[in-house]
Amino acid sequence: MSHRTILPGDLSPIETNALLCGGVAPRPIALASTISAKGVRNLSPFSFFNAFGSNPPTVAFAPNRRGRDGTVKHTYLNAVATGEFVIAAVSHAMLHPMNVASAEWPDGVDEFPKCGLTPVPARFVEPALVGESPFQMECRLKQVVELGAGPGSGLMLIGEVLAFHVREDCFVDGILHPDALDLVGRNGGAFYTRASGAAVFEVPKPASRPIGYDALPAPLKASRVLTGNDLGQLANSPVLPDLSAARRKPGDPIAPAGLDHAIHQALATGDLAEAWRLAGLRLQV
Ligand SMILES: Cc1cc2nc3c(=O)[nH]c(=O)nc-3n(C[C@H](O)[C@H](O)[C@H](O)COP(=O)(O)O)c2cc1C
Repeated sequence: MSHRTILPGDLSPIETNALLCGGVAPRPIALASTISAKGVRNLSPFSFFNAFGSNPPTVAFAPNRRGRDGTVKHTYLNAVATGEFVIAAVSHAMLHPMNVASAEWPDGVDEFPKCGLTPVPARFVEPALVGESPFQMECRLKQVVELGAGPGSGLMLIGEVLAFHVREDCFVDGILHPDALDLVGRNGGAFYTRASGAAVFEVPKPASRPIGYDALPAPLKASRVLTGNDLGQLANSPVLPDLSAARRKPGDPIAPAGLDHAIHQALATGDLAEAWRLAGLRLQV
């Protein structure tokens, strides 16, 4: 499959934004709650958002200059004027209210009553928490980074987290569970991602020193059945087992392709030891 090479200089800021949003995805969504110098609340979503450090806990989001005319957004003006913001994570139950909050409401309009989400007093900052959000952060603005000056240019707001507020049921065995948080992410165009249920899976951390792809036996790497993910799981093994010790069991396939399919199945169920036993048989063929 060929790849298309695209140079930013050949695109308008709006086309560039569409490309970035499609490919840098899914992005978490910060529902940013701010307050104006006059004391009017504001609530708007921003998916140019992430966490960047834990000590001190640091997050950043980017209410950018508008692509069509280069004007700045209320959220940016409020955060810079007051030095404070609250970031609320967006669960699936908040999806459509969040979408209403993203409309271009005029200056001075409080989006909380417009979208139906509930303002709740925060502990350390003036902007309100969002009652419906399962995970929120009260933040103090630490730094503003201007990433250009024209339409669509980035205005990154970096904040230190003063307090986290986490809905109690989201802790399962001490960690935040994706099914309880049920967060949504933003992709390109009108696409979103829901990070719970069948979309969520676990991947074991790499061994401290995995054997690596280059150590895999050549017949496995040449297989037409084993996928890149299959070989990646084998490459993640802490040691290369003694493949000559593999013993055949009743019902094991005999042909190389059959054995490759059996290795693929074993890896699909996460049974690395069985995959290596079958790989041993494969090398004995
Ligand atoms: C899911 C979602 C993510 C968004 N992400 C961004 C973003 O990262 N940066 C941005 O400038 N606008 C983003 N927008 C658009 C703003 O929410 C929109 O311009 C909003 O009207 C700004 O409101 P304000 O002027 O009250 O701050 C996003 C909209 C949605 C629905």
